[in-house]
Amino acid sequence: MNRAIVITGGAGFIGCALAKELGERNLPIVVVDNLHPQIHPERERPKALPDFVNFVKGDVTEGATWDQVLADWIPAVVVHLAAETGTGQSLTEASRHANVNVVGTTVMLDAFTRHGVKPEHIVLSSSRAVYGEGAWRDETGKLFYPAPRSHGVLAAGKWDPQPPGGSGSATPLAHACGRIFPAPTSVYGATKLAQEHILGAWCAAMQVPLSIFRLQNVYGPGQSPFNAYTGIITLFIRQARMGKVLDVYEDGRIGRDFVFIDDVASALAAGMANPPLERRLLDVGHGVVTTIYQAACIIARQQAAPAPVITGKYRDGDVRWAVADVEPLARELNVRPAVAFEEGARRVASWLVERGYA
Ligand SMILES: NC(=O)c1ccc[n+]([C@@H]2O[C@H](COP(=O)([O-])OP(=O)(O)OC[C@H]3O[C@@H](n4cnc5c(N)ncnc54)[C@H](O)[C@@H]3O)[C@@H](O)[C@H]2O)c1
Repeated sequence: MNRAIVITGGAGFIGCALAKELGERNLPIVVVDNLHPQIHPERERPKALPDFVNFVKGDVTEGATWDQVLADWIPAVVVHLAAETGTGQSLTEASRHANVNVVGTTVMLDAFTRHGVKPEHIVLSSSRAVYGEGAWRDETGKLFYPAPRSHGVLAAGKWDPQPPGGSGSATPLAHACGRIFPAPTSVYGATKLAQEHILGAWCAAMQVPLSIFRLQNVYGPGQSPFNAYTGIITLFIRQARMGKVLDVYEDGRIGRDFVFIDDVASALAAGMANPPLERRLLDVGHGVVTTIYQAACIIARQQAAPAPVITGKYRDGDVRWAVADVEPLARELNVRPAVAFEEGARRVASWLVERGYA
């Protein structure tokens, strides 16, 4: 049996980019992926997955998948990407999200125990969704953690979280894992936090080094154009290329940290090359806020589409603001995400056009 890098969910957007980034110079790479129909409607090994990658079609929630993988490979490094990822969707399909994200993780760990396997390093792609609305400051500078924005609050068009007491303005803080507590406001976010806790407990007890990366909004070539539940940049570009008016929710000032796929792959690869002694937790983003209105305007301009329209519509479970503090990532792994949004959006558009998706 050979030692290998095992990437669960590795046929997806981030997994394909990571495999390409790691290349053939390391250990063999084994991808375990069930080719989820929402992401892979053709149910085939994606062309973006490099040829040198060994592919096992299997579901991480099934013990038999792991028995098959562990019969052939010793997982030296495990990168756990397999997940149900729809933030809004997780509200109405909560069990599906919990089953894959939470139970899928524990089934994997139980298989390691069953087979007497102790990886040398486990890497988890967690999410900025664990922060929920994050931390804000009121006008007096006092820190507060807003409750989820309720349906009633959104229906009334009160977009910014209200300080305790309900009056005055508030300012959001960057997501900084060392200073800001997680407080998920979506079922998806809760399952990603559960993954962090489960792996944290298991790895501490088993003395397996653990790296947790909380990713902001990753975008780039390779993001499934078929998944209607994630990937707003891909969606906007496809709509803009059809000459449609882009529909911008709330008052247009939802803030997001769009981080380009290559920068994320570099961060994960750097983390794999430098395992922590015990455990590390890092935020991964570009460190720059782009409002959804700004993103829509840039894309509409690039694609010569009509000006976007702010509609005041909203989606339950969406958070108002998210941006990462990227200094700890730069300090610890010497990685500084570099691709600016305008450039990244152009690269996505070229990719969509080349593939005939737009
Ligand atoms: N893309 C982002 O913006 C983002 C942001 C934060 C965190 N993340 C996390 O990164 C990871 C990868 O995300 P992505 O953007 O590549 O998503 P993706 O949907 O492109 O890839 C996920 C892959 O997991 C596979 N999968 C789903 N359920 C599975 C199961 N039960 N068994 C085996 N494979 C399964 C899918 O077939 C798919 O190939 C996820 O854990 C996600 O929570 C992504």
